[in-house]
Amino acid sequence: MGNTVLEQNEIVEKILDLKEKKNAVLLAHYYQRGEIQDIADYVGDSLELAKKAQETDADIIVFAGVKFMAETAKILNPDKKVLHPNPESGCPMADMATMEGVINLKKQHPDAAVVSYVNTNADVKTVSDVTVTSRNAVKVVKALKEDKIIFVPDQFLGSFVAKQVPEKEFILWKGFCPPHFNLSPEQLLPLKEQYPDAKIAVHPECNTETVKIADFVGSTSQIIEYATTCDSENVIIGTEVGLKHMLEKVNPNKNYIFPVNADYCGTVHCCDMKKNTLDKILEVLDKEINEITLPEDVIEKAARPLKRMLEIV
Ligand code: 13P
Ligand code: SF4
Repeated sequence: MGNTVLEQNEIVEKILDLKEKKNAVLLAHYYQRGEIQDIADYVGDSLELAKKAQETDADIIVFAGVKFMAETAKILNPDKKVLHPNPESGCPMADMATMEGVINLKKQHPDAAVVSYVNTNADVKTVSDVTVTSRNAVKVVKALKEDKIIFVPDQFLGSFVAKQVPEKEFILWKGFCPPHFNLSPEQLLPLKEQYPDAKIAVHPECNTETVKIADFVGSTSQIIEYATTCDSENVIIGTEVGLKHMLEKVNPNKNYIFPVNADYCGTVHCCDMKKNTLDKILEVLDKEINEITLPEDVIEKAARPLKRMLEIV
């Protein structure tokens, strides 16, 4: 059973108090529960959160996102304590890529650059030339001198980038994000019939057929910018349902329509993102548990592709 409003208010008070006492910062991704976004010091997409993690002067970073995001914060801040509210909150797509597999691909294509989506585990980053996020992937790939790209692990973000950089050859890892992959045009098109003036905005992790019917394709932050400012009152949103919270905060005068996805938890819903709760944030901050730790050599090697990305964008 969830907390009552009174209990939730008490938990929030305690978190805010501990944050101040311990000089801690709470970073949250847009897919986090609304009550977490409401008390975060910063809410953003993967790129913005990586930048915030690099800039912060807090002693403790509590990262409300999935594991690879908290790891990224640790890799960029090896001297800080990074706490992850729930170690069970991983990313199924990140787990689809292995370091050994990437090394093998690199052997087969020695002239290719290994471009890893930030949605990878730290060991995969150690064998990557550069990381990308959904917001900057096209820019980063264009900036590379190599004409051949090994793109890991999201085949759909990879093909989206490949279409915009036709001068380069792409070798795509066959990973995918289950919630975005399961969103089909058949779920979006009836909504378009219901709201003929509506624009469709989707995340590039969606499958190719879904991306084809969209008016706009972008990262979570870019979807917010587009949906809250475009000239249609109704906007059909093809990404994780957690984004609704920020969309309605930024511009409450519009109607954001999220499809029902019968195959995956009822909506486009990332079960892993929702494993973080206010109770867990309070517990990790209070007891300073679930600290992200990585071997020094992993941090050093994984930092290189991340820093290279941050220099390009
Ligand atoms: P962005 O916030 O970079 O768009 O990424 C979405 C995502 O799936 C994170 O796991
Ligand atoms: Fe991973 Fe997809 Fe969840 Fe993002 S939304 S954390 S890519 S499973």
